[in-house]
Amino acid sequence: RNMSSGSKPKVFVTNYNIPKKGLDLLKSCEVVQWQSEETIQREDLIKNVKGIDALFCILTDKIDGTLLDACGPQLKAVGTMSVGYDHIDMKACKERGIPVGFTPDVLTDATAELTVALLLATSRRLMEGAGAVRSGEWGMWNPQWMCGQGLHHSTVGIFGLGRIGLAVAKRLRPFGISQLLYSGRKENPAAKEVDAEFVSFDTLLSESDFVIAGCALNSETKEIFNEDTFKKMKPTAIFVNSSRGGVVDQKALYEALKSGQIKAAGLDVTTPEPLPTDSPLLDLKNCVVLPHIGSATVEARNAMAELTARNIMAALNGEQMPCQIE
Ligand code: DGY
Repeated sequence: RNMSSGSKPKVFVTNYNIPKKGLDLLKSCEVVQWQSEETIQREDLIKNVKGIDALFCILTDKIDGTLLDACGPQLKAVGTMSVGYDHIDMKACKERGIPVGFTPDVLTDATAELTVALLLATSRRLMEGAGAVRSGEWGMWNPQWMCGQGLHHSTVGIFGLGRIGLAVAKRLRPFGISQLLYSGRKENPAAKEVDAEFVSFDTLLSESDFVIAGCALNSETKEIFNEDTFKKMKPTAIFVNSSRGGVVDQKALYEALKSGQIKAAGLDVTTPEPLPTDSPLLDLKNCVVLPHIGSATVEARNAMAELTARNIMAALNGEQMPCQIE
């Protein structure tokens, strides 16, 4: 099936709440959209994708060989409305010659803002403070009460200085941080824009007052923040994660927070998501957990939906996607 033959290409959209601006760009296609607020389950996904030309998916959909085969050999494109693609088996896509589109850049500013918010919320104990106001624990002004750690004069370490890490670094410089360190697979030439120094992971862990995970989740970064790495951090260190829950061994993080191995943590991502309300992490005062809202601005979500649609349309037209995963 192709567009010139008259029949419209069929696109399956796996989620009910995709911003209209994105769906509008698919108007030349036959769009079938999942019609429930509930996240589509695997069996339903497999049933619905049969015979489609393109798949418009989100990060909760697991895209692997089985699913691609369920689509059929006419499948021409997968577009995920996310910058992360740990839910997609890229090898399976490559083997079948299916281009995969993603949404870098358009969510960078929103996610960097949220990361900074999490850093401040954690270091300056915003949730605890606001809770104390409501509970009546707020007494007369007390020089020793609710003190946290300022960003000013601190050393910040970013593990994974990619698009988002760099955008976080740019926002932190004006706070007067004294040192910016980063580590990861390779040096980023753009690091000089923020005067960031490339160091070993161990150096980053031992010297940083704030450790920020800005990396993608893959086989190299899975649970890279674990018992061993939390031990290498300062007892005053604050750990912030706005990438993927999977980069953290969450039990080890709980232990590190509970025992005072590290000072506090701010997480926008967890394992699993949603985090069960009985998770021990939620009993800790020194842990702020947000519900994966890094890219949750109206502007970013609209742009993500539009870019996903543009990726899909390009592939259906036999063109290079504007943002294709290499
Ligand atoms: C992504 O894009 O990968 C985020 O996790 C959701 O915006």
